[in-house]
Amino acid sequence: MSNPIEQAQSREWFYAYELPDGSTTPTYHGVDIQAIHDTRWQMLQDCLAQDIGPEWNGLSVVDLASHQGWFAWNMARSGFSPVLGIDARQQHVDDSRLIAEIYGYDLLTFQQGDVHQQGPEQPGRFDVVLMLGLLYHLEDPVGALRVCRSLCKNICIIETQVVPGMTGYVDYGSYEFVRPLKGSFGIVDETEETHGPEASITGVCLVPSLDALMWLLRKVGFSSARVLQPPPDAYEQLRYHKRVMVAARV
Ligand SMILES: C[S@@+](CC[C@H](N)C(=O)[O-])C[C@H]1O[C@@H](n2cnc3c(N)ncnc32)[C@H](O)[C@@H]1O
Repeated sequence: MSNPIEQAQSREWFYAYELPDGSTTPTYHGVDIQAIHDTRWQMLQDCLAQDIGPEWNGLSVVDLASHQGWFAWNMARSGFSPVLGIDARQQHVDDSRLIAEIYGYDLLTFQQGDVHQQGPEQPGRFDVVLMLGLLYHLEDPVGALRVCRSLCKNICIIETQVVPGMTGYVDYGSYEFVRPLKGSFGIVDETEETHGPEASITGVCLVPSLDALMWLLRKVGFSSARVLQPPPDAYEQLRYHKRVMVAARV
């Protein structure tokens, strides 16, 4: 049996992990994709510094849809503890555990699970909830936002693709009963791609508009929510507002 670093080098990764021996894990999307991770990590750190200050030691984190654990690993490296990553795909959980083993992070753990099955009894409540790159892969995004709120003790950071929104009014059953639209969803079909490591597990994806996301965050019980500003050199999807990162407070 090869050692853990050799095991990491023998498979392909979504993230370019820097390993303790100075090597970097081989990636299956090429090096360009790392820019989206780096931008999001920079925005996440800036937000946490602003919202909870510089002292992160001992604050708990759950990372929903942790994939191969890169954001959870970065949180653990930054002092957050314990850090739990949850992902629907067991292979991602196995890969993430290998990274935690390589770094000897005992309080960085991972488990397989569907976001919709999580709640305050299990796995519990956390100071920081992360849900990055997941919402737009779900057929029940509102339910997932409710899960985020139920797990959150302080701050929740959501990063998602958004669609252009419709605005205006709808005759809701009668022209005499007119309601304003609060936001909208776009349907994206991933039904042929559910085998993909980054994809939806059901294939039916409801992507929110930014208005919808901001309105829903308040309706599921967060007291406030703000859109984080991308840095000037941000990955293009964030720079041009095709994706957003939002911080919601309990
Ligand atoms: C685009 S990747 C994002 C990964 C990571 N959070 C990031 O932003 O780099 C989507 C991830 O969501 C996971 N996933 C999809 N549906 C899920 C669900 N219902 N519950 C938990 N994880 C899910 C996938 O396995 C995949 O790891």
